[in-house]
Amino acid sequence: MHSLDLTIPDGQFVSIVGPSGSGKSTLLGLIAGLDAPTAGEIRVDGEAITSMDEDSLAGLRGRKIGIVFQSFHLITSLTAYENVLVPMEIAGLGDAPARARALLEDVDLTARAHHYPSQLSGGEQQRVSIARAFSNNPSILLADEPTGNLDSRNGRHVFELMLKLNRQRGTTLILITHDHELAALADRRIALRDGRVVSDSDGSSGDSSAGDGATGGVDVETGGAAGDEVLETAAEPQHQGRR
Ligand SMILES: Nc1ncnc2c1ncn2[C@@H]1O[C@H](COP(=O)(O)OP(=O)(O)OP(=O)(O)O)[C@@H](O)[C@H]1O
Ligand SMILES: [Mg+2]
Repeated sequence: MHSLDLTIPDGQFVSIVGPSGSGKSTLLGLIAGLDAPTAGEIRVDGEAITSMDEDSLAGLRGRKIGIVFQSFHLITSLTAYENVLVPMEIAGLGDAPARARALLEDVDLTARAHHYPSQLSGGEQQRVSIARAFSNNPSILLADEPTGNLDSRNGRHVFELMLKLNRQRGTTLILITHDHELAALADRRIALRDGRVVSDSDGSSGDSSAGDGATGGVDVETGGAAGDEVLETAAEPQHQGRR
C-alpha cells in the first residue's frame, strides 16, 4: 500500500473494489493486524494495533473481529463443525456446541457438518469460514470475496446474512467484492488501484479520510508523506509473511 488515510466509522458497511493485485486483501490484512505497515498507525475501536504484540492482537481479533479469508484458512484436521466450534471454545463462549450447529444451519451446511475441509467443495468451505467468522459475534466483520465461490442463490443468502449483522447488530462490515451490484449496496464504496485509494464515495478521490475517528470503527494511516497523484506500479512488498 502507498500512503493511506482512511477512517471507517463504527457500523458502516464499506465495499472495497479494485483490480486483482490492487491491494484489497493486503488492506484487510492490515486492518486485522495480520500484516503490519512499514510506517503509520492503525487503530481498531480506538486501540492502536500497530504497537500490539501477537498475543494482544489475537485477543483483539477473538473479541471483536470476524474474518472471512479469500482462501478460507480452515483447519484441515478439524471437521466443518469443529472449525466453527473450536474458536468459540477457546474464547470461552457459553453454549458453543449449540451455537456452532445453529451457525452451520444458517449457511445450510448441517448435512456436511462432520466432513473435513478436503471433503468439501470450495463453496462449502467458504460457507464454513463464514459461519466461523460469525461465531464470536464480531463488532467488525472483514470479508474477502465471501461470495466468490458461491452460486448466485448461495451468494445472495450469505450476503443477506452479513447485511443482517450490519443492519440489526450494527456490525461494521468491510467487504471486498468483484460484484459491482453488491458493492453498490454498501453505505460507502472504496476503489483501490496499485495500492492506492483512487475513489471513495464517502469523500474525495485519492487519499481521504471520513469522520473524526474518535470512537469505534477503524482508522488506517500508513506511509509517510501523502502520495502524489501519479499511479505507481510494483510497490515494494511490505508483508511480513504472517498471512
Ligand atoms: N505475502 C506477500 N508478500 C509479498 N507480496 C504480496 C504478498 N501478498 C500479496 N502480495 C502482493 O501485493 C499486491 C497486492 O496483493 P493483494 O493480495 O492485496 O491483491 P488483491 O487486490 O486482493 O487481489 P485479488 O483481487 O487478486 O485478490 C500484489 O501485487 C501481490 O502480488
Ligand atoms: Mg485478494
